[in-house]
Amino acid sequence: MATNRTFTMIKPDAVESGYVGAIIKQIEEAGFRIVAIKKTQLTTERSGQFYAVHRERPFYNDLRTYMASGPIIPMILEKENAVADFRKLIGATNPAQAEEGTIRKLYAKSMEANAIHGSDSDENAEIESNFFFATTEQY
Ligand code: CMP
Repeated sequence: MATNRTFTMIKPDAVESGYVGAIIKQIEEAGFRIVAIKKTQLTTERSGQFYAVHRERPFYNDLRTYMASGPIIPMILEKENAVADFRKLIGATNPAQAEEGTIRKLYAKSMEANAIHGSDSDENAEIESNFFFATTEQY
């Protein structure tokens, strides 16, 4: 059953570039409610755990180093059809292929430094939310 929640994090490149406010404005204007939010920084080890599903991929080591390179903004978001609608809002993983007006098209620097993450399923949204926020029921 769809939970109407998704998980996102604004990545180090976008935080460093000062895009947090603009990105959150776009998220809220698209109808998402912020359920939980914080600013934090991952260690390389925790970053590797978050992206463990990619550990066999050639980009894994660079990715976990990059994701630990600066502060990030993890958030839990709520909206009907949250997972699919949010992935539409952020656009393709590779910003060169992202549609006009999407968050990655507007703010991403590269395939790796692609500004923002969005969960790919309800199940992963819950796992990823629990990775950053202790008890999501309280929100
Ligand atoms: P994200 O949606 O957070 O999921 C995995 C991340 O790995 C992706 O965004 C990118 O930041 C990064 N990445 C780097 N290279 C690749 C690649 N070739 N394919 C997919 N993801 C990549």
